[in-house]
Amino acid sequence: PRHLTLAVIPGDGIGPELTRSALTVLHALAEQKGLTLDIREELAGAEHFRRTGRPVVPGVLDRLAAADGVLKGPVGLPDVRHPDGTEAGLLGGVLRTGLDTYANIRPMRLLPGVRGATRHAAGDIDYVIVRENTEGLYLSRGAGVATPDAATDQLMITRSGTARVVRHAFELARTRAAARDASSTRRPEVVCVDKSNVLRSFALFHTVFEEVAADYPDIGSGHLYADAAAHELVAHPERFDVLVMENFLGDILSDLGAATVGGLGMCGSGNIGDGAAYFEPIHGSAPALAGRGLANPTSQLLSLVLLLEHVGHPDAARTLHTAIARAYADGAVGLTPTGTPHGGTHAVTDAVVAALG
Ligand code: IPM
Ligand code: MN
Repeated sequence: PRHLTLAVIPGDGIGPELTRSALTVLHALAEQKGLTLDIREELAGAEHFRRTGRPVVPGVLDRLAAADGVLKGPVGLPDVRHPDGTEAGLLGGVLRTGLDTYANIRPMRLLPGVRGATRHAAGDIDYVIVRENTEGLYLSRGAGVATPDAATDQLMITRSGTARVVRHAFELARTRAAARDASSTRRPEVVCVDKSNVLRSFALFHTVFEEVAADYPDIGSGHLYADAAAHELVAHPERFDVLVMENFLGDILSDLGAATVGGLGMCGSGNIGDGAAYFEPIHGSAPALAGRGLANPTSQLLSLVLLLEHVGHPDAARTLHTAIARAYADGAVGLTPTGTPHGGTHAVTDAVVAALG
């Protein structure tokens, strides 16, 4: 549609600064592309939980599912804990499980002008981590059993939960292959990452992966144990196209990947299900940076790129991605060694709006 109804969850910490930046850029982009916007803010997150005792306003899941797109800032505050003692990653549970967004898409792409933690060049690193988002170790969230002397959590892998996320990964590899230009030497491939040499749950994940892979003869398939994958993602990230893995492994390896593409501020993500989707940075709410205008909004802008693609505006998505890449390539945006942008959040927002033309 030329008209987009978007729900925005500003979140905690640096979240409101990031979503504000993204909306500024979106308004400029919408004007250029002739799109009209209806933006509705939703309250959710740790601060909201502290005030109301609930992580979200009632009815929010239905409204999020009904919107054309959902843009979310990071949530969580170190001093806001669930009664069971775990962090207020509890909103993640409410949204990811509540909306059944089973595929968490985390593209890792090193842009020209950005320094990653390895010696790779822009163009070398361009892969996507597909993190299973509704089961695995995170299914134990809030359900672990603890005494003062021992605690257990359960890692659950199901056939249906694995099959659907693996299928999503192969479809993504197909879409990426179709979009690549003919000169590209990158081979379409999905790599399964697990610890099937040690744990039965992961052995099932691997088995189901092999079964689904057989339905995609046009796409290569590979396998790595998670420890070896961590090594390869640092040593040879250029060999990867799409990787699929259990929830907790995806959490860890996506932060590792982020370090190789300029840091956590450079990675957006999409939580995608069959009926709903929402888009957010892969990082947390960085309370120490909050309210100071220092945070890098690029992760939120790249999340917006994924949102636009998902809601059927690939042209707007491409224009925005190109503008972000150009802002870094031209040196209009530069990052300090700790990953915050020179000139702060505003400098990035302004540079990207300027690069939109
Ligand atoms: C992420 C985050 C969340 C997670 C936190 C905030 C609970 O780290 O999206 O990767 O662990 O999934
Ligand atoms: Mn994480």
